Amino acid sequence: MVAPELIREHPLVEQILAEHRGHGGPDERSWQGYHAHVYRVLNLARTLAPQSPDRDEKLAIAGAFHDLVAFRTLDYLAPSIAAQDAWLARTGRSAWADELALVVAEHHKLTPYRRAHAPLVEAFRRADLADLSQGLLHPGLSRAYVKAVRSAFDAGPFFARVVAPGLARRIVRHPRDPLPLMRARRALTRSGHEGADG
Ligand SMILES: [Fe+2]
Repeated sequence: MVAPELIREHPLVEQILAEHRGHGGPDERSWQGYHAHVYRVLNLARTLAPQSPDRDEKLAIAGAFHDLVAFRTLDYLAPSIAAQDAWLARTGRSAWADELALVVAEHHKLTPYRRAHAPLVEAFRRADLADLSQGLLHPGLSRAYVKAVRSAFDAGPFFARVVAPGLARRIVRHPRDPLPLMRARRALTRSGHEGADG
């Protein structure tokens, strides 16, 4: 595997995150941590996904939206997809809505994704897993490359100040539905993308 040069700034990531700053809450450090996580996943996913003309744009968009509503609730897949859909419609990119909804909905799947739009969905799933597992799980990627990408961006505050407390709160308040962020099918149905993986 030849590791591509790192993307440290992508215009669509910057544009989408700037337009959605309100989702991040008042804590600037955790918002910057989310930026870092988005860039880690973008870089890792594009290394895994097959080359195509729109690959990086699609990964940048789905990357920016994939955990966007996590600052407010752990049940964030459907509202993140809804925000993505609205943005895609506004910018004339609704043709990508089903594929990118799948990328977001399935990104916490624990086993390989093999249904519709698998190349991008599976690349993104593995990329997020590599970061979330702190580099311990890195299917298809070399340990050294994951380490290089992770050390280029500091996503620590996002995990420590948003994801971890969100998980703790969720288990207390919703013990019967503690991990809504794993429920891809429900997210697709709620966001109007039922059957997109058909
Ligand atoms: Fe993520």
